[in-house]
Amino acid sequence: MPTFVKVAKTNDIGPGQSKLVEVGDKQIALFNVNGSFYAIDDTCSHQGGPLSEGELDDIKVTCPWHGAIFDVTTGDSLGPPAPTNVTSYKVRIKGADVEIEV
Ligand code: FES
Repeated sequence: MPTFVKVAKTNDIGPGQSKLVEVGDKQIALFNVNGSFYAIDDTCSHQGGPLSEGELDDIKVTCPWHGAIFDVTTGDSLGPPAPTNVTSYKVRIKGADVEIEV
């Protein structure tokens, strides 16, 4: 059954920033887009680049390795060379905590 797990404090990640968080064996990229938080798999579907280290432009993150673009709100692949989408996770804010459903 999915449960929400605390992964960060809201003030750990400023607007336009991202952070790698780990939940169990999952590596998840957490993004702050103008105060709203989104979480997708950190591992690019092309060759495994770290999406938490990509450049964030509004809701789009560019993979630092070969430039694939993903929508951080859905995990959808928006530009090559990524062959598939990545998983997105529900995020909720509880007080000052950011929680991800896994
Ligand atoms: S690993 Fe992300 S674009 Fe190649």
